Amino acid sequence: MIVIIGAGVIGLGIAWRASQRGLPVTLVDPAPGSGASHVAAGMLTPVGELQYGEEDHLRLGIDSRDRYPAFAAELAELTGVDVGHRAEGNLSVAYDGDDLAFLREQHEFQSSLGLRTELLTGRECRRLEPMLAPSVRGGILAPDDGSVDPRKVLRALTAACAGIPVVRQRAREILVEDGRAKGVLLEDGQTLGADQVVLAAGSWSGGLSDLPVRPVKGQIIRLRSPYPFLTRATRGLVQGFSMYLVPRPDGELVIGATQEEMGFDGRVTAGGLWELLRDARALFPGVTELEFTEVTASFRPGSPDNAPILGPSAVRGLLYATGHYRNGVLLAPLTADALADVLAGGDLPEVARPFTAARFAPLESR
Ligand code: GLY
Repeated sequence: MIVIIGAGVIGLGIAWRASQRGLPVTLVDPAPGSGASHVAAGMLTPVGELQYGEEDHLRLGIDSRDRYPAFAAELAELTGVDVGHRAEGNLSVAYDGDDLAFLREQHEFQSSLGLRTELLTGRECRRLEPMLAPSVRGGILAPDDGSVDPRKVLRALTAACAGIPVVRQRAREILVEDGRAKGVLLEDGQTLGADQVVLAAGSWSGGLSDLPVRPVKGQIIRLRSPYPFLTRATRGLVQGFSMYLVPRPDGELVIGATQEEMGFDGRVTAGGLWELLRDARALFPGVTELEFTEVTASFRPGSPDNAPILGPSAVRGLLYATGHYRNGVLLAPLTADALADVLAGGDLPEVARPFTAARFAPLESR
């Protein structure tokens, strides 16, 4: 028996792929699909959000982004749910001259890695996105990036996992005997025996292990537009602050997101909303006309190097699929395939090997 702790896009994706391989799986989650996956905007932007020194993450992100068309098509065929995958590219735009200087450097860095990326003037940005403010200085188009609707991904994965038992309880402890995972102790005191346990509990993974995973709070706003407001996921740099807007075909416009080190403080704050709306309005003055529908906050599972923690651990039978930080939705297809392979007795794919927990072990024990 395999127990997967956590039923967000990561846990559900692994459960689906593992059960396709004929493996017996049980999910443990007090409220499946209600954590960070439910709040996420769904940008698939490994190129648009590339950071210096994160070339390994880039390869992982591109690998997973490129799995999305087949992942989405397979889920649609199986469940009838269209997950809203779009591949219109990612636009990054600059509000002022300093923001543009930063984007020019980012464009050079992307080009130096052989990535498809185009430096655009302000006018070219507005031709792509006519609702942009006339003052926008320029931008970068990463044409291979895209987006997906995470709530639809959750709906599709939940339907795909319909035959898999779900224990609606919090996991209290991962049980280990003689260096081997034996199961999970539930909050009601009962034990769920297992020969393999997957920790996919997002921000709560740190409390169930000694992994350095912490919650990084994000507040996010949803608006509704009666007319097409934006064509593609657009990231804005406004006087050094970064934010993004993600449109959906049904008129939803998602504006995100704050990044706050507040522990598990899930309050929505006036300041968080103000910062997001202030920067959104600087780039797209028309946002103030749109209907407000929702504001939510959730917790990204952050790791010390902003990268996920994937695959086997020092405890036999205990696997990790956590620490995805800002990229859980992007990395869901790859994580699902990779973990299902390992659960079935295979190896982690080469692209995921730099991301095991061993990188956090003291040097002398590696
Ligand atoms: N993936 C975007 C965010 O975490 O805000």
